[in-house]
Amino acid sequence: MVSTRQSLLSIENLTLNDVEDLFKRATFLETAFQNGAAVRRNRVVALLFAEPSTRTRVSFEMAAHRLGLQTVVCDNPATSSLAKGESLADTVLNVAAMQPDLLVIRYNKDEATDSILKELKFPVINAGTGTQEHPTQALLDAYTIKKCRGQVSGEKVLFLGDVVHSRVANSNRKLLALLGAEVAYCGPDSLTPAKDSLWQDVKRFSGLNEGLAWASVLMGLRMQKERHIGIAVTQAQVQNYQVNAKNLISLRADGIIMHPGPVLWREEFADEVAQDPRYRVLDQVTNGVFIRAALMSKLLNIEV
Ligand code: NCD
Repeated sequence: MVSTRQSLLSIENLTLNDVEDLFKRATFLETAFQNGAAVRRNRVVALLFAEPSTRTRVSFEMAAHRLGLQTVVCDNPATSSLAKGESLADTVLNVAAMQPDLLVIRYNKDEATDSILKELKFPVINAGTGTQEHPTQALLDAYTIKKCRGQVSGEKVLFLGDVVHSRVANSNRKLLALLGAEVAYCGPDSLTPAKDSLWQDVKRFSGLNEGLAWASVLMGLRMQKERHIGIAVTQAQVQNYQVNAKNLISLRADGIIMHPGPVLWREEFADEVAQDPRYRVLDQVTNGVFIRAALMSKLLNIEV
């Protein structure tokens, strides 16, 4: 149970009740923000981003400010002491010594940092670790599915592309299982999950059209090229799995098209996908503010 003052480091920290409570809070906060209400003031959220981010960082800040929280952001490794050779674990210890009320952190998972995060006296939110976890993205994705499709349970969610290296897909797979959705994936052979991977028992479609015909939710993913060490993915393979107006005919009329961003146009999605009436990518971004506000309000025990 994620209760007051606990952390969200992994989807495994969540129960079904937690997710339902977060969705309820997000819906309430959506109205409260539209009415201009600030819920509480003067607490400080530290945002430490040791890997690039646009949506996640900005939406955490936006959500914090909407709740009346202050933020301090350290998001440029090149201008922090990380560039001088300080370890991330030491950086975390130093930020923690300044006693923020909450820490939001994105980093490339390492054991020293993980064990420090578990000992901190204030809550921590994982804003993306390596290829492993991105729990708040999974929450905002499930919330978007619920809002657009009416429910998550029973939905058929197809992940397209680089599932092996996607922390978004990894967290989504766990949360969607908790919420009763079915998951499948489709992508180039060179990115097929290994036999001992967490994806080994998940349904795979080798053809994109076949996958699209099965799905009620399509989730495009970016090729995580920065993580393709020793793996060759050719442009032809990428194009083979590109979603476009022609193959989108296979996706049901009331299905939805999602993507955690950043979308690399003309790689996973052809340009015209943005004009498809089923395209919900910016709704995900909007919902990210409500979900992150819901989570921060819950961890800081802010009444909503
Ligand atoms: C993703 C990430 O950083 O994991 N983006 C996001 O947080 N919305 C996906 C990606 O980088 O491809």
